[in-house]
Amino acid sequence: MRKQVVSVHAKKKTRTLENDATRKNICKFELLNNIMTTATKYQISDPKESVVKDLFNPYNVSAKPFLKWAGGKGQLLDKFQELYPEKLKRKKIKNFYEPFLGSGAVFFDIAQKYDIESAFLFDINDELILTYKVIQKDVSKLIDFLYRYQKTYLKLDKVKRQEFFYDQRINYNLQRFNIDYDKYSESWFPRAAQLIFLNRTCFNGLYRVNLKGEFNSPVGDYDNPKICDEQNLIAVNKVLEIAEIKKADFKEIVTDLKSNSFVYFDPPYRPISKTASFKAYSKQGFADTEQFQLAQLFKQIDFEGSKVMLSNSDPKNNDPNDNFFDEMYNEFNIVRVPARRMINSNALKRGEINEIIFFYLGVPLRVWLSAVSPRFASLHCGLSTYIPNAKAA
Ligand SMILES: C[S@@+](CC[C@H](N)C(=O)[O-])C[C@H]1O[C@@H](n2cnc3c(N)ncnc32)[C@H](O)[C@@H]1O
Repeated sequence: MRKQVVSVHAKKKTRTLENDATRKNICKFELLNNIMTTATKYQISDPKESVVKDLFNPYNVSAKPFLKWAGGKGQLLDKFQELYPEKLKRKKIKNFYEPFLGSGAVFFDIAQKYDIESAFLFDINDELILTYKVIQKDVSKLIDFLYRYQKTYLKLDKVKRQEFFYDQRINYNLQRFNIDYDKYSESWFPRAAQLIFLNRTCFNGLYRVNLKGEFNSPVGDYDNPKICDEQNLIAVNKVLEIAEIKKADFKEIVTDLKSNSFVYFDPPYRPISKTASFKAYSKQGFADTEQFQLAQLFKQIDFEGSKVMLSNSDPKNNDPNDNFFDEMYNEFNIVRVPARRMINSNALKRGEINEIIFFYLGVPLRVWLSAVSPRFASLHCGLSTYIPNAKAA
């Protein structure tokens, strides 16, 4: 079933690739040549096996997130699919919005499974948006930079790798003052490559900044990290053809929200301590005030007719009496699903926790959930409900 959908989509995209190649005056062979030369130059992988096959059949490999990101939703996609609006599955929704993009796991899933025409991808993180735009505009040049990183890094011993990582980290933090994040330029390519390199080689793949906005994740310990995943990057470039990518605060989403849209929100998690605010992704942080503003926006967008869905970490993981989100979203459908807590400096705390998901009303939950899967037949609309097998933290 899933295979069929992907192949229909793939045909359409191949046509787009050809049109696009003419439009941008880039010949496929030129691009191929470029990548072949790079691959041969750096002798990283067998170009016949990887790049050539993939370039002429770009959807042979499905695009997946190119960064590891705190709160990434890859592990929850199967559960999410059961909650996506029926209209999306019936091809009635044409626009997808993801205002807290991160690594974009939900975007990549939806863009490759359903027939959406446009995606609007926002995040407040400058570095992240810069990197997405580079992949969208000129992926082959980025691949060239990443090959060089991979070649240099992999031949170093463990101690030298650490030195190289920290040199890059220092350089990355210093160079941020020399980058114009609003104006696309050649300097964006090494910047994007540096972010991907640091993400692939840092501890746990965690992108974390301190109060000064400096990237401060320590070095990781991987034998053979895939710094340059050229097949995936080319696939990502193709999927991003339908995307408008913008550095923006989530509140900007309402300025030009189109009809027939589905909006998925994945804000930073609410911090466990009441005084702390989550500052890992950006120095601005995300406190309870922002969670309230977001809830208002969620209600407004739902009221105006778009489909909405939002996920967050369940505060009940830490305090069973904490009804912060249940009260905030009490008019909406709520489900809880188990998730692995991927990133925590304390290995013992990387267990299973519940993720809480809120979504639009309009269709009686019990009716359509039981249609999707008999497992959900006992759920009730508007009630906070545990999906079977969910375990308390
Ligand atoms: C939980 S992560 C999203 C993870 C994403 N769903 C994934 O699969 O990787 C939250 C994202 O929100 C972004 N963010 C934080 N504050 C924001 C704001 N005020 N407006 C827009 N994005 C914001 C962060 O930079 C981060 O990438």
